[in-house]
Amino acid sequence: MHIELDSPLDMHLHLRDGEMLATVAPLTSHSFSGAIIMPNLVPPVTTREEVLAYKERIRTAIGEDRFEPYMTLFFKPTYTREFLESVADEITAIKLYPAGITTNSEGGVSGFDIEELRETLGAMSDLGIPLCIHGETGGFVMDREAQFVPIYEKLATAFPDLKIIMEHITTKESVDALGRFENLYATITLHHLIITLDDVAGGMLRPHLFCKPIAKRPEDREALLRVALKAHPKVMFGSDSAPHPKESKECPGCAAGVFTAPIALQVLAELFEKHGAPVENLQKFVSGNAVNIYSVTPPAKKVVLVKKECTVPERYGSVVPMYAGEKIAYSIDKVE
Ligand code: DOR
Ligand code: ZN
Repeated sequence: MHIELDSPLDMHLHLRDGEMLATVAPLTSHSFSGAIIMPNLVPPVTTREEVLAYKERIRTAIGEDRFEPYMTLFFKPTYTREFLESVADEITAIKLYPAGITTNSEGGVSGFDIEELRETLGAMSDLGIPLCIHGETGGFVMDREAQFVPIYEKLATAFPDLKIIMEHITTKESVDALGRFENLYATITLHHLIITLDDVAGGMLRPHLFCKPIAKRPEDREALLRVALKAHPKVMFGSDSAPHPKESKECPGCAAGVFTAPIALQVLAELFEKHGAPVENLQKFVSGNAVNIYSVTPPAKKVVLVKKECTVPERYGSVVPMYAGEKIAYSIDKVE
């Protein structure tokens, strides 16, 4: 039993910088053709020079792999049309974080006043730059994403030609919103297709499954699975693989993020098989839909997965992956 995937894409990825970048970048560039690179470095990526320099550091980290880093800027409501015109060719999207909502998002947006955002979002819309959003309010943790849906709707209505990507959706409310607005799209992670809050905190606390947005209820996971397994044309795979050193996860004040990059395709293959979804749908979920939504042309790469059990390493450098030390059903056989 083997599965061939053409040019897999990860449309939401954290690569960090420095030593961490050197550890994690090759784990994605080996098996993926490209990825949308998150800009929440310290300090965040906010200038053309920073985009170009970060892209260069990523290229150095991945070596010879055929892999396209699709770069993003960290959204600022102060970006002018002139600035966006000067940077448009170097970026694939702009990522908006509500201020303080997650890791390194302190410089994000407070309040969603349309008039305050009009110049920047209007220019993005005219220039065809998609807006990726971490959609959570400051409310009760289980309700944050659902409470953000009216903000998505307000933005989607005010800027009907702006492509808005609801990042790492975790709720049925977000799935429902996809159908109501032509210009709303979504990424879905691997872990949110598999776990619920029970896996994180229902028994002994599992820090390596703690992330933002937090995993929700079984019915939310079902809603995500429904659209992912049928490869709904408005959803695409975005791992949100977010590495943190082991000591930042296994401590009081555990950092948010699940590290899935090295096992993502193998576990997706297992998941689609388990649910009886055809390989064509997996191909669309991990590549075709993103190609259509983002109008990108990823480098050619064929990844061959085989049904052969393997044990996930305990660590990659300082980072503990999802399923560390456990067996998964598929392995990567070759990459061409
Ligand atoms: O769990 C998360 N980790 N969610 C995010 O939104 C950010 C990410 C990170 O950068 O660690
Ligand atoms: Zn993220």
